[in-house]
Amino acid sequence: MTITINNRTCEAATGQRLLDIARTNHAHIGYFCGGNGICQTCYVKVLEGAELLSPPSEPEKAMLSDRLLAEGTRMACLATIEKPGTITILSAVEEVKQMFETDPLQLTAYSAKMGWEALVKFPETVGMQIQRTLTGGFDLLQIFSDVVKAVTDALQLTLGGYVNGNREIGRGIAAPEGITQKRLAEESLGAMFNGCCRNSQEASHQPKDKHATLHAHSGNGVTA
Ligand code: FES
Repeated sequence: MTITINNRTCEAATGQRLLDIARTNHAHIGYFCGGNGICQTCYVKVLEGAELLSPPSEPEKAMLSDRLLAEGTRMACLATIEKPGTITILSAVEEVKQMFETDPLQLTAYSAKMGWEALVKFPETVGMQIQRTLTGGFDLLQIFSDVVKAVTDALQLTLGGYVNGNREIGRGIAAPEGITQKRLAEESLGAMFNGCCRNSQEASHQPKDKHATLHAHSGNGVTA
């Protein structure tokens, strides 16, 4: 089956976490903690097919306010596909990116709303994480390994995009006007820290010619 993440068609199967599907398909999604239910950057809005997903678990309910849940927000590392069907989701990082590109003024209200919803749940979230800690719910070695893997994957994507860009220039393919190696590096690193990835760029800025591939850098560090 396939599902749609940020307008990208992604291969998926029942039993898979939304986060894993997004990462495998390089769809733009946040995962600072490597998918261990800690960082809360993997928020996604389920636009279609919410009933096909696992119901929100207790940890998810401890982190998501009633309002966010009612709006269809889920945590991609804690939500799995239970039944096949049409599922469409938009990740929070992609939503922010789209706002930034189309109407940056919305960001203030969005940030205030998300900040408030996190504040409302803060005591419950902390309580749940303490409980997890006390009951051995955290495998620190696994978390460390997941985070390292996430960062490593992102660096590979980022550096791969940078190297490919330089290779194009080295082969004598002129960079588009205004694109320099320094800028390529800046864009690649910027992608890592700002949550702008190759695929989200491809989705919103389809390359029009071979030069445009220089823009289609990859990487995310904390995003897929
Ligand atoms: S909470 Fe960190 S990836 Fe979901």
